[in-house]
Amino acid sequence: MGTRRVLVTGCSSGIGLAVAVRLARDELRRFKVVATMRDLERKEALENAAGETLNRTLEIRQLDACSEESIRECVNSLPDRRVDVLVNNAGVGMIGPLECQSVTSMQELFNTNFFGLVRLVKEVLPDMKRRQSGHIVVMSSVMGIQGLLFNDIYAASKFAVEGFCESLAVQAMKFNVRMSLVEPGPVVTEFERKVYEDAEKMDLTGTDEETARIFRQIYLPYSRKVFTSLGQTPEEVAEQTLQLIVAKDPPFRHQTNRLYMPLTALKHADPTGRLPLDAFYKLIFKHDNVFNASLGFFRILQKRMSKRTV
Ligand SMILES: NC(=O)c1ccc[n+]([C@@H]2O[C@H](COP(=O)([O-])OP(=O)(O)OC[C@H]3O[C@@H](n4cnc5c(N)ncnc54)[C@H](OP(=O)(O)O)[C@@H]3O)[C@@H](O)[C@H]2O)c1
Repeated sequence: MGTRRVLVTGCSSGIGLAVAVRLARDELRRFKVVATMRDLERKEALENAAGETLNRTLEIRQLDACSEESIRECVNSLPDRRVDVLVNNAGVGMIGPLECQSVTSMQELFNTNFFGLVRLVKEVLPDMKRRQSGHIVVMSSVMGIQGLLFNDIYAASKFAVEGFCESLAVQAMKFNVRMSLVEPGPVVTEFERKVYEDAEKMDLTGTDEETARIFRQIYLPYSRKVFTSLGQTPEEVAEQTLQLIVAKDPPFRHQTNRLYMPLTALKHADPTGRLPLDAFYKLIFKHDNVFNASLGFFRILQKRMSKRTV
């Protein structure tokens, strides 16, 4: 197979930046990377990380996932409009009690996380079908499989992403186009920082005292511990994304964090849905000492595993 052109969205920071740079630095030079971001004024971090690959195997272009016009302009600017691999990564987060979030901000989140994907796929899939080749790789989340307390809207957007891809993947296969969902657990990026900053500032007067207490005193500290204990680096996710792109028979789903798998497995173990609900309830509200001890254990495991895989 010759050099493949890969278009990556949301490359100003985090996973998108790491994926673009990892592909551009591929030792076998298998990729030409079109690293896109909505605001080119934020390109410095990517330029620095790209180093000598800049304008060789990596070029930076503007693309706003919320604008069909901007997506079309970017794809039209590519020779023959050819995108061999789309890495749909752009996304935003949101946490907190439902009553404290406006419907407008929920719609904005869906506009990026879900409709951003839909717009990109609409633009590149017809060409891929015509060429009878292509790979659409979508940065989903473990929260696209299993919902989580105070992540109601974010998880819903990733469930939408998963349902969309699962439905479309069969049609795509008929045209020799592959689809893959990458499902990271916690990854330490700007995403986490932005979400916590918003949470600290959040006006909780719209909810009752007990919910506000659970969010501030239980959820936020637990969630921070989960990130420090189980969190991967964007580079780890990027490495696994590269392996998925070059695989002969790429999987439809790939969870990047093996430590998170027992939690997502509960869902498949019990079709009534009681098992994961009970497990999360007990972990969060009843057995916080067990939860804390397990995180300490996971932290050690994570360190050992990342030494082995990177
Ligand atoms: N971090 C995690 O724990 C985690 C876990 C599972 C899945 N994920 C998923 O991984 C993806 C990347 O997140 P990350 O952790 O790398 O976060 P990040 O560092 O905040 O990066 C998100 C990227 O998306 C971009 N973006 C937001 N809205 C956009 C739009 N309308 N058009 C184009 N780009 C846009 C941001 O650009 P600006 O700089 O302009 O805002 C930024 O480049 C997301 O889809 C997220 O849901 C993250």
